Amino acid sequence: MNLPNMLEAKKRSKNDVKYIYDDIKKSNSFKGLKYYIKTYGCQMNVHDSEEIKSLLENIGYEETNVMESADLIILNTCAIRENAHDKVFGFLGRCKHLKKENNNLIIALCGCMAQEEIVVNEILEHHKYIDIVFGTHNINEFPKMLLNKTKNLNINVFSKEGDVIEIGNHYIRDSKYTAWVNIMYGCDKFCTYCIVPYTRGKQRSRKSSDILNEINDLIKNGYKEVTLLGQNVNAYGKDLSGEMDFSSLLMEVAKTDIERIRFVTSHPWDFTDKMIDIIAKYKNIMPYIHLPIQSGSNRILKLMGRRYTKEEYITLFNKIKSKIDNVSITTDIIVGFPNETEEDFLETLDVVNTCKFDGAFTFIYSKREGTPAARMEDKVSKEEKEKRLQQLNELVNKYSLENNQKYLNKIVKVLLLGISEKDNNKLYGYTDTMKLVNVTCDKKLVGQIVDVEITDAKSFSLDGKMIENN
Ligand code: 5AD
Ligand code: SF4
Repeated sequence: MNLPNMLEAKKRSKNDVKYIYDDIKKSNSFKGLKYYIKTYGCQMNVHDSEEIKSLLENIGYEETNVMESADLIILNTCAIRENAHDKVFGFLGRCKHLKKENNNLIIALCGCMAQEEIVVNEILEHHKYIDIVFGTHNINEFPKMLLNKTKNLNINVFSKEGDVIEIGNHYIRDSKYTAWVNIMYGCDKFCTYCIVPYTRGKQRSRKSSDILNEINDLIKNGYKEVTLLGQNVNAYGKDLSGEMDFSSLLMEVAKTDIERIRFVTSHPWDFTDKMIDIIAKYKNIMPYIHLPIQSGSNRILKLMGRRYTKEEYITLFNKIKSKIDNVSITTDIIVGFPNETEEDFLETLDVVNTCKFDGAFTFIYSKREGTPAARMEDKVSKEEKEKRLQQLNELVNKYSLENNQKYLNKIVKVLLLGISEKDNNKLYGYTDTMKLVNVTCDKKLVGQIVDVEITDAKSFSLDGKMIENN
């Protein structure tokens, strides 16, 4: 058994990262068996699940959407906030029940929660019906763990980040048109509230040649859009001895034939002028930037270890707005960081009033064991934090709606991705600027980029009808 250790996870070794080119081996070992996978959290986790699916299908498993009929249930978990933890343990209760009916059912837990010491201790004490636990650094070992499975709980979680495992284009992707492409793993920023640098380890950039090969392969397979993924995409390359920085990588990707390029998440600290110029220059780099601010109070930003002031953020924001045509900018905001005062909070509202974001993901601070903020005194009540969140959301939604209303009667390009959840007679897709649009059009057009006239605007989506080009 390898158990996680947060102190070990915090260390940053100077050793060079190894790049391992893994040939995925095919076998029929589990032919006829079905797996069900439940994914929590960010795009990184969603993409990890695409890798897990590929690993499982290569050893004979088939996916099912009906949990009750599965022989293997995998929970790919998120550790960013406490509520994600509660959801997972709630779900595990249902799995335990299923296991009583089906003795052969295998339950596996992976992802960021598996990297947390307290979670693994909780599993060892109260959830021994789980069969396999593996971490974010050794996903590739999952098939081996299934093949060697014994009756006992098998925990194999590394605290030290692993090598970069290259599996080429071997993912079972959720979409045939838009693809996640990892450009880096881990994070070295250590914002004081955040558990990611511990669960995902040291920053390791993929080689640009491997990234470009994957993208060229996606283009050959008909993909229209790629989203470059990383916890901190614009720190890309800082760990590669000067090979390439993020703006150069963006430019190389822009020179391929891919029609749309997106990237998440950018840190204001690493956002260079060169990056802005390249986004402005290449038409296949989408004018959409997710730029978390976290707080509008300089005192709180300092305590968070964010490395910029409110004024520096606003200067960067204005520079991006003035240089990139029609750009949309969204953000992340945390309220109720330990001992956030009313004045601190009002400063956050003030920044929202200045920037008028296209959208914002807002959160109440959640204490994460092992992070520096978890040791900070906090006298602000839960009720007060909830009140602040509500007040913030009202303001954020007001600006989302105002920004969306600017699209009314305009014609925009939309990549159609599938049947709309709101209305089965429509397709849904996204504008260049990442606005969700429900489109009245022929359903055969899924996968195409089409011109759409916007007919209605709400806070979180637009409605539109396709314009026939002749
Ligand atoms: N509590 C609340 N929100 C958090 N985030 C990260 N850590 C925490 C935490 N401990 C938020 C940040 C980040 C987003 C992905 O999640 O806003 O940008
Ligand atoms: Fe967490 Fe900060 Fe890294 Fe983002 S940049 S993953 S908030 S430590």
